[in-house]
Amino acid sequence: FDDDMPEKLQAAIRDVPDFPQPGILFKDITPILADPELLQASISEISATLPHQNIDKVVGIDARGFIFAPTIALQKGAGFVPVRKKGKLPWKTKSQSYSLEYGENVIEIHEDAVQPGDKVMLVDDLLATGGTAGAAVKLLKALGADVVCVSFLIELSALNGRDAIECDNIHSILQYS
Ligand code: PRP
Ligand code: MG
Repeated sequence: FDDDMPEKLQAAIRDVPDFPQPGILFKDITPILADPELLQASISEISATLPHQNIDKVVGIDARGFIFAPTIALQKGAGFVPVRKKGKLPWKTKSQSYSLEYGENVIEIHEDAVQPGDKVMLVDDLLATGGTAGAAVKLLKALGADVVCVSFLIELSALNGRDAIECDNIHSILQYS
């Protein structure tokens, strides 16, 4: 890809003020997804944050992580594992709560979704406070997985979300301060 691809991706992101709540400036990635070149590039850039390493599973977080994680899994010859919002997974689950601006939320993973020692890459669209990805990493580690990499398309750097994620290999393609 051309060197200015991150700039092209950044230019395509649509800022939507006051969504989903007043005061929030929402980063809308749907213009990236609708453009075949940018869709391809966004997936390739996230995938390239973990080069030359065999992994067993790519884990995506409900809902927008599901847009990217399965394609990255296929590129890497790995399986795909969903981490879902509470109450969506049918089999035996492990749960982890995390803080929202107001209140808390719970995400879940199937107990047999990863095996002890599995090498996993965690993918989501956006890193804000790190509550969501931090909780997902806790779930994966509780199941004995080796979280080798956590990667995002977008990072809201000023929120220091990295500090909430127990992994020393965290990547993002586009950063906003
Ligand atoms: C959004 C985003 C990340 C998370 C980041 O998900 O997709 O998953 O928030 O925020 P954090 O770092 O502060 O936890 P959200 O659950 O709002 O919506 P979604 O179901 O559309 O992914
Ligand atoms: Mg999300």
